[in-house]
Amino acid sequence: MGINRHFSLLALVFSLSGTRAQNSTNPTNSTSYDVLDYVDQLIGSAKGGNVFPGATLPYGMAKAVADTDSGSNQGGFTTEGDNVSGFSSLHDSGTGGSPSLGNFALFPYASCPGDDVNGCKYPKAARKIKYVENSVKASPGYFGLQLSSGVHVDMTTAQHTSLFRFKFPSELADSSSPLLLMDLTDLQDSRQDNGTVTVDEATGRMTGNARFLPSFGIGNFVLYFCADFQGAPIRDNGIFVNTRASADVKNLTLARSINGYPLPGGAFVRFKSPGSDGILARVGVSYKSSKQACSNAESEIPSFDFAATQKTANSMWRDKINPIRVSTDGIDSSILTNFYSGIYRTMVNPQDYTGENPLWESSEPYFDSFYCIWDLFRSQMPFLTVLDPVTITRQVRSLIDTYRHLGWLPDCRMSLCKGYTQGGSNADNVLADAYIKGLSDGIDWETGYQAVVKDAEVEPYFWSVEGRGGLDSWKSVGYIPVEDFDYKGTGTMTRSVSRTLEYSYNDFAISQIAAGLGGRDSHVEKYTSRSGNWQNIFKPDQKGGNVGGKDSGFTGFPQPRYLNKTFGFQDPLTCSNIDTNPNSVCSLQRTAGETFESSIWEYSFFVPHDQATLITKFGGPDAFVKRLDYLHDNKITYIGNEPAFLTVFQYHYAGRPALSAKRSHFYIPAFFNITHDGLPGNDDSGAMGSFVAFSMIGLFPNPGQNVYLITPPFFERATITSPVTNKSATIRNINFDPSYKNIYIQSATLDGEPYTKNWIDHSFFTEGKELVLTLGSAESSWGTQVADLPPSLGTYQGYGNSTGNGTTTPEKRAQVFEDALISRLTEKTGANYWAHEEG
Ligand SMILES: *[C@@H]1O[C@H](CO)[C@@H](O)[C@H](O)[C@H]1NC(C)=O
Ligand SMILES: *[C@@H]1O[C@H](CO)[C@@H](O)[C@H](O)[C@H]1NC(C)=O
Ligand SMILES: *[C@@H]1O[C@H](CO)[C@@H](O)[C@H](O)[C@H]1NC(C)=O
Ligand SMILES: *[C@@H]1O[C@H](CO)[C@@H](O)[C@H](O)[C@H]1NC(C)=O
Ligand SMILES: *[C@@H]1O[C@H](CO)[C@@H](O)[C@H](O)[C@H]1NC(C)=O
Ligand SMILES: *[C@@H]1O[C@H](CO)[C@@H](O)[C@H](O)[C@H]1NC(C)=O
Ligand SMILES: *[C@@H]1O[C@H](CO)[C@@H](O)[C@H](O)[C@H]1NC(C)=O
Ligand SMILES: *[C@@H]1O[C@H](CO)[C@@H](O)[C@H](O)[C@H]1NC(C)=O
Ligand SMILES: *[C@@H]1O[C@H](CO)[C@@H](O)[C@H](O)[C@H]1NC(C)=O
Ligand SMILES: *[C@@H]1O[C@H](CO)[C@@H](O)[C@H](O)[C@H]1NC(C)=O
Repeated sequence: MGINRHFSLLALVFSLSGTRAQNSTNPTNSTSYDVLDYVDQLIGSAKGGNVFPGATLPYGMAKAVADTDSGSNQGGFTTEGDNVSGFSSLHDSGTGGSPSLGNFALFPYASCPGDDVNGCKYPKAARKIKYVENSVKASPGYFGLQLSSGVHVDMTTAQHTSLFRFKFPSELADSSSPLLLMDLTDLQDSRQDNGTVTVDEATGRMTGNARFLPSFGIGNFVLYFCADFQGAPIRDNGIFVNTRASADVKNLTLARSINGYPLPGGAFVRFKSPGSDGILARVGVSYKSSKQACSNAESEIPSFDFAATQKTANSMWRDKINPIRVSTDGIDSSILTNFYSGIYRTMVNPQDYTGENPLWESSEPYFDSFYCIWDLFRSQMPFLTVLDPVTITRQVRSLIDTYRHLGWLPDCRMSLCKGYTQGGSNADNVLADAYIKGLSDGIDWETGYQAVVKDAEVEPYFWSVEGRGGLDSWKSVGYIPVEDFDYKGTGTMTRSVSRTLEYSYNDFAISQIAAGLGGRDSHVEKYTSRSGNWQNIFKPDQKGGNVGGKDSGFTGFPQPRYLNKTFGFQDPLTCSNIDTNPNSVCSLQRTAGETFESSIWEYSFFVPHDQATLITKFGGPDAFVKRLDYLHDNKITYIGNEPAFLTVFQYHYAGRPALSAKRSHFYIPAFFNITHDGLPGNDDSGAMGSFVAFSMIGLFPNPGQNVYLITPPFFERATITSPVTNKSATIRNINFDPSYKNIYIQSATLDGEPYTKNWIDHSFFTEGKELVLTLGSAESSWGTQVADLPPSLGTYQGYGNSTGNGTTTPEKRAQVFEDALISRLTEKTGANYWAHEEG
């Protein structure tokens, strides 16, 4: 989602001290390392990565971390020299909207001045303090730091429960009566009326709830908590409002306030002399009730055992990540850290809220924090299809169940609320990707199909949060007109170009599910045909605009088009990375233009299903390559936002897979590295992380299709064991060179047989195949023939004898897509998916 531009593009200076792999056919095996040693949660904790760097389980709801007062839309904690205002239990990761969640913050004092509870500071703005910079420690399931007050705080979590430990070192002048406060707050100060807290005099147990706003959506939600304490006898307790506190009052209900800013309020507990083990605060959270928050906490962390909770969290993470092993031979540890940290972040969000959804009763799983699918469909969700098919299956079931109960698939969803749609109805792409890759277990594909067809056919009342707008025009003129006449529904009437491109692809996604389900020939035909609508806004004589005062030299770009079929105009460079016009408005603003968070230049490549026709429109494969080079070399594209991802690998379609390999090494690690500011944009859940992970194993998905584009892994080998079939797929480099000079595939074998296609399908993973790539330092003819290219709806044309093989007739080439479609529909995959075909 959110754009977060960094205009300074530092030249890549990258050298490795590693030694060359000596014998690639007999590599040192690397079974001995712990994958978690290479997870660094602080990557992306500065300069707008907005990652959640704290303690959580995979997909966990409880996410404990220190909250800072950074100006970013951070996932709680930032490493930008900010102040800590509290320690809260719910977060999102990588967000771009507003800072998300951060509810119910604890804050510690070793003592209150004058031994008076009114000597402690309560409001966030007054109490926040620095943390000791080198004290920050984060590992899977753990986060800790020392505040400048000397108090040391660390934390771990179970699924719905955080466990915080506050230590008051003996050096502190006075820690004879520490105080912990619990603030009814969140990161974006969105608390509404009736925030309530109660503290139990005898035990100090605090329960409460408050209504908050989602960070990038509509509506509101209520969250509940239950906090218990252990480690020292209780001295007294009570509530605070604004700057004042009293042990005489145990209950509090607050209005939001009269001036738009929530009045600080909450509860406190004071303790008598804690021991050196400190005080433990166990905070259960729930979207249903305080009672459920308490029972979550009691069942998940019954005895306040910090070490055991941390150990469990740690081993859950290890189990999740372990199925991907690589050869560490000659590899700098920074490469491994970049890789495994990216993988880790793909499992932080979405969050598993099963059992915590108060909106409807269902036995289906419920996931939330799809933040947002516009970002997630491109590589994060496809990555989980490889590494954690069991969970992605549950996420898909949750999406379909959301449709069942709310009437629409979400495009973005957080904290039980509808999030804003950025372009297409991109859950269609997610469902197609899952469907063609054979996910089945418990997925009701008939209902899933109804859901995607509804996106294509029925315009919602408010299409800013679901479905699509402009459907009448979509069906009649075959594009989304600029300044459309659209009375059927309401939404932000911008982005006509990017919406046309995304809706085209959404319709292609639907056609694929229709083809697979069978018995829907007319639908296959209709949606395949509509998937060609992108051509209706393609203006053959449109010039590409001026770069550095000089015409780009390219013609033929999409343009806004009125309902009366006359073309309008948007400079193809507007909202590109090199657009310096301060008046350009590029996001969801009412005044924004016809492309969302990127330029026509970049969007013009977004025809993932019909690269052959696009390449022809661009003047053939050589011209296409020149144009793609121009996009990257002139920094028109911005790798910190998701539309750029596929452009790195689209050279494959022009028969130049070598150039994709070169580009991915250009961006990694120059734009994705292990520093705190090592992400070029918001992580958007783990979208950036998945880009790194897929690029480094050398198989990048064209999401929504059964296609992975092959480039050499960044390791001598990578092995991925399917958690479903237990079969291991290996991709291995011969002549591997850790200084990355040999990044060009010369030849390949698949399970020992010569393999010339520059792409592979998902059966590689489910059936545990072995792909062996022989590398060299120069581009070769491998993967360059028309027959080697990935499937495309249209016909590959204009490929000379060096690329493409001159003997294929246009009719035969037209068969390429259909054959691929048929083969993917008839191939048995590891999962039992074809049961649906008959049904
Ligand atoms: C590489 O390993 C294979 C298998 O162990 C062995 O047969 C071959 O001689 C080795 N080659 C070199 C150059 O060491
Ligand atoms: C890899 O090395 C470990 C430890 O030396 C050994 O136990 C294991 O069998 C080896 N695995 C393979 C696949 O060679
Ligand atoms: C930390 O808080 C202090 C006191 O309010 C403030 O002066 C300072 O600017 C804050 N630091 C940052 C980085 O926001
Ligand atoms: C707050 O409580 C009052 C009284 O019960 C109720 O009328 C009001 O709707 C509540 N407001 C919110 C935002 O829940
Ligand atoms: C405080 O709240 C608790 C729980 O809702 C309730 O049982 C108790 O009666 C309240 N006490 C007062 C003084 O209102
Ligand atoms: C189509 O509509 C646009 C925008 O209102 C207008 O500028 C243009 O002249 C119209 N074209 C024709 C042929 O009427
Ligand atoms: C690391 O990545 C960040 C974000 O893209 C970039 O600004 C920085 O220059 C990179 N650092 C190196 C050493 O390449
Ligand atoms: C995969 O391995 C796990 C753990 O060894 C086992 O429980 C499971 O039954 C295996 N699944 C299959 C399909 O072989
Ligand atoms: C050209 O492609 C056809 C069809 O894929 C194939 O049978 C033939 O062997 C190829 N010829 C050459 C010279 O590569
Ligand atoms: C392709 O090969 C054929 C047969 O060898 C030759 O006649 C033709 O000129 C070649 N075309 C190109 C574009 O090189």
